[in-house]
Amino acid sequence: MKYFAFCTLLALISCTPEKNNSIEQYRPLVHFTPQKNWTNDPNGLVYIDGEYHLFFQYNPYGTTWGHMSWGHAVSTDLVNWKELPIALEEYLDPATGDSTMIFSGTAVADFNNIHKLCNEPNCLVAIYTSHVHRDNQGLRQHQSLAYSNDKGRTWKRYGKNPVLDIERKDFRDPKVFWYPQHEKWVMALVVPDLFKVQLYESEDLLQWSLMSEFGPAGDTLRIWECPDLFELPVEGQPGKTKWVLSLSGSHPAGPAFVGMQYFVGDFDGTKFTSAQTQPLYVDFGKDYYAGIVFNNVKDRTIMLGWVNNWTYANQIPTGTWRGMFSVPRQLGLKETTSGMRLTQHPVKEWETLRTQKLSSVDELKLQTFELEVELKEGSGVHLFKSGNEQTTIGLRDGKLYIDRTQSGLTDFQKDFASIESVIIEPKPDKLNIRIIADQSVIEVFTADGLYSITDQVFPTHAQPGVELFGNAEVKNVWALGRK
Ligand code: FRU
Repeated sequence: MKYFAFCTLLALISCTPEKNNSIEQYRPLVHFTPQKNWTNDPNGLVYIDGEYHLFFQYNPYGTTWGHMSWGHAVSTDLVNWKELPIALEEYLDPATGDSTMIFSGTAVADFNNIHKLCNEPNCLVAIYTSHVHRDNQGLRQHQSLAYSNDKGRTWKRYGKNPVLDIERKDFRDPKVFWYPQHEKWVMALVVPDLFKVQLYESEDLLQWSLMSEFGPAGDTLRIWECPDLFELPVEGQPGKTKWVLSLSGSHPAGPAFVGMQYFVGDFDGTKFTSAQTQPLYVDFGKDYYAGIVFNNVKDRTIMLGWVNNWTYANQIPTGTWRGMFSVPRQLGLKETTSGMRLTQHPVKEWETLRTQKLSSVDELKLQTFELEVELKEGSGVHLFKSGNEQTTIGLRDGKLYIDRTQSGLTDFQKDFASIESVIIEPKPDKLNIRIIADQSVIEVFTADGLYSITDQVFPTHAQPGVELFGNAEVKNVWALGRK
């Protein structure tokens, strides 16, 4: 309530029109959000029979974290999503009184059906963390399995769960993928408080044996969560690939926030090794976490992240829904003077959301748009600008930054009003940036995908505009929307 009293006062003082129904207006138009309630991590990303499946951590009963279950949405093009009924729900075991939440995990297209749980090959199998609360013994996390014979619409939990238990309170977030060279399934998951990723192998998804461990390494300022392990081609070096181990943990700006880091290295089917000596981060904004890549997609690797930060995730002022997912990002690797680095570009399907090409930012009356701008030192662009409100993106001292300190509602949490920045190497004379703005989220990509910054903002004024400063030059402007 206090935000609205504040905004009303602000609107009166500045005579700037206030948003009507601003809570619903924060809902992005082209980023996926569930119709109602809370969501966090993307889960079980998989492509099968012409459909991309997005499962997600979901609370069916409210707008804050709890009762974790798997929500479900499908898409044929990665950008238009249809929400389906809940896939896997929290449950109570009447015999023991245990309650089990369905934490993060994977789905695979189980093409060989060796365990014979499915009616026919190529059914979907989900491997998730069963987070069990037992009255007299506290918490336990182990890995369990469920399967679907109807393309993810309905699910059955495997009768002999769990399939992997090391008797720990924290042991979670399995990512399973097929490793064709050894004809086996590989699972990466974390022992969060020990900063370890464990790698297991299995022939049938039911029996798992430990192969190796990775960590502690890199940034260990916060517990590790949601690992993924995938192979990527190196740009401009035909035939050359490297493996990337990504995981969620601390933020590049320090452990007051969460963020994602990655390691570049090699995987021989048993062990992941990396010679990397410094932590590398996936995104430099405050709102990109728990990203994992789709299984079963040929010829490209696509990651989706949760746009939020645990530091304030339960408090963002969005009303009947809370949480969204990023633009799907195609990943690559590039050899730079500082070493091998991850690149990220919105998937090509994103361009189908461009409803109109505009000739200047002055025509922008919408809050969902895409903008390509060339920045020079000291220049930038104010987004969602109205009266004394704006979110600034600029280049200063060789750093790309987003300043959301004046972006609108910020006082719902004491650390939200932040400035994010990343040093661009080598120091650029000019920098082309691609901005995707969608009501309450801004994603910026630059330097051929070597850096990205993702931030949420909550503007309070209706019809804000875009304004350039310094000698920033607009290259392209598109309105975005669903056709
Ligand atoms: C990451 C995480 C996971 C866990 C899930 C619970 O955001 O904490 O480690 O499985 O969320 O919702």
